[in-house]
Amino acid sequence: MKASIVLLPGDGIGPEVVAEARLVLDVVANRFGHTLDLSEHLIGGVAIDREGTALPEATSKACADAHAVLLGAVGGPKWDNPEAKVRPEQGLLGIRKHMGLFANLRPVKARASLAKGSPLKEDRLMGVDFMILRELTGGLYFGQPRFTEKMDGGGERSVDTLEYTDGEIRRIVRLAFDIARGRRGHVTSVDKANVLETSRLWRRVTVEVHKQYPDVILAHQLVDSCAMRLVAGPSDFDVIVTENMFGDILSDEASVITGSLGLLPSASLGEGKQGLYEPVHGSAPDIAGQGLANPLATILSLAMLLHHSLELHEEAVAVEGAVEEVLKMGAVTSDLGGKLTTHEVGEAVRQALAS
Ligand code: IPM
Ligand code: MG
Repeated sequence: MKASIVLLPGDGIGPEVVAEARLVLDVVANRFGHTLDLSEHLIGGVAIDREGTALPEATSKACADAHAVLLGAVGGPKWDNPEAKVRPEQGLLGIRKHMGLFANLRPVKARASLAKGSPLKEDRLMGVDFMILRELTGGLYFGQPRFTEKMDGGGERSVDTLEYTDGEIRRIVRLAFDIARGRRGHVTSVDKANVLETSRLWRRVTVEVHKQYPDVILAHQLVDSCAMRLVAGPSDFDVIVTENMFGDILSDEASVITGSLGLLPSASLGEGKQGLYEPVHGSAPDIAGQGLANPLATILSLAMLLHHSLELHEEAVAVEGAVEEVLKMGAVTSDLGGKLTTHEVGEAVRQALAS
């Protein structure tokens, strides 16, 4: 097949891990006979330095025209000023909105061999295999109005707006039920319906959509108790669906429980097949440029890209299998107890893939 893929290396370890995934993609294209048109564009801090904006016009346009986007990471101490007018995160938020990517998928799966790196007791990790589905373009992140103003008589006042329409809720919840059908058939919808108006609408819409999915089991859970259960009994969950801000917080909590942050991929999807894929870990500026970064989360994100956006399932399974093989061989970076460099791990994956 022919497909165009945009690579957005970004900041910190982003360029190193994306470079390895790009070489993996070359091997996939060769072995399976595909013509892939790859182009690299600026986003985040590096884009601010060179173009004065975190999301240059050329980047938005290239992403909108591509079949899929693979992103490394954005941000770092150099641009770490929440008061600044231009910030690296604007690149990420902007591209999500621009591409209409309303669903963020983060699969979390525990592996017995990596349990030592988990902050949880080993027995809690048995059978942990769930997917967090976070709404990505609504809620507090984008709600209007938002402002800070001086008050009469002194002091300041800030407002953010938490807003959802039934349509925004329906499309993400529907996706959650669809995904659950391909898994263990269980959806946990997370809200704060004992307090928030938006959560009460969320619950009503979820119950209504569920009527079309009688084969899927639906449970409602308040976000605070969900945060607790994620560490107390993470194996209880199959698909967790929630709004933007709750999902941001819960997905970071979920990302550490398996002890393998360096292995977690993510996908952000919209209505069509187009998507943006990125590792769950950040730009890790402290280890950038030293060959220490684990490229496997980005390579597994590439596998998600092959699955969802290009529908190259055999290719995706081959990449996942190659990653399993290097894990089994212990051909890993120091975060997983190994001694290899970023590039050596990439090479090991490519060898496994080619053979
Ligand atoms: C994430 C990140 C972003 C978010 C930041 C960088 C804006 O934390 O992808 O989870 O809050 O969505
Ligand atoms: Mg986050």
